[in-house]
Amino acid sequence: MAKPVSLEKILFSQGFGTRRYCSDLVYADLVKINGVVAEDPEERILTEGLVLNVEGQDWEFHEKAYIAFNKPANYECSHKTSHHPSVYSLLPRPFVERGLQCVGRLDYDTTGLLLISDDGQFIHKMTTPKKNIGKVYEITTSEPITSKQIEHLLKGVVLDDDPRPCQAVACKQLTENTLAMTIVEGRYHQVKRMMAAVGNHVARLHRTEIGQYRMPADLAEGQWRWLYADELKMLSRSVEADHA
Ligand code: URA
Repeated sequence: MAKPVSLEKILFSQGFGTRRYCSDLVYADLVKINGVVAEDPEERILTEGLVLNVEGQDWEFHEKAYIAFNKPANYECSHKTSHHPSVYSLLPRPFVERGLQCVGRLDYDTTGLLLISDDGQFIHKMTTPKKNIGKVYEITTSEPITSKQIEHLLKGVVLDDDPRPCQAVACKQLTENTLAMTIVEGRYHQVKRMMAAVGNHVARLHRTEIGQYRMPADLAEGQWRWLYADELKMLSRSVEADHA
């Protein structure tokens, strides 16, 4: 049976600040529990299905956070960025406070599906090279894509720093200059380097799928959404299915 937890602890766990700051939020009448203003930071409550409202923002309680994010171009997947703003600057502050990390990175100019979480085991499971989960990229090239290039990608290309060939597991040409390519590894700049190796050039790169999870059609660029149990199950099935 789930045990009730103090409101202050819950707020802290969700990333609203130090325990002291969380207490102060309650004393300042800035926290509602299921729509009712809370008065006591020590009040013990059950977390299942809990919806808080903190400083006017609704906040679903999630013991661990798993989110899907539609990354725009010109953002870096890093907390300490070098040339562009961070994707974390587009997320609510509590996510940063509680240490969410990208599940594998996209280049600053790549757009599309990014998973972000504070569950270390999940991140490891999804990114360890042993698991090799399929990722689908929509590639826009500067030169028309030829069938020879597709053949080459499916056969495997050798990238300069690595003698192991790098292979596309599926390629579907969408237009003269666009290709949906599935890869299972996550080597540095892998797609761009694979396309360069077959004599083409990536003009735009957009990730649409990770495992069996497809970017929701209604998730606008720069927006995020929670992943729920059935979607997480789908993702862990991807890990198992790809290695059955
Ligand atoms: N491959 C690339 O070259 N860049 C990305 O961002 C992802 C895969």
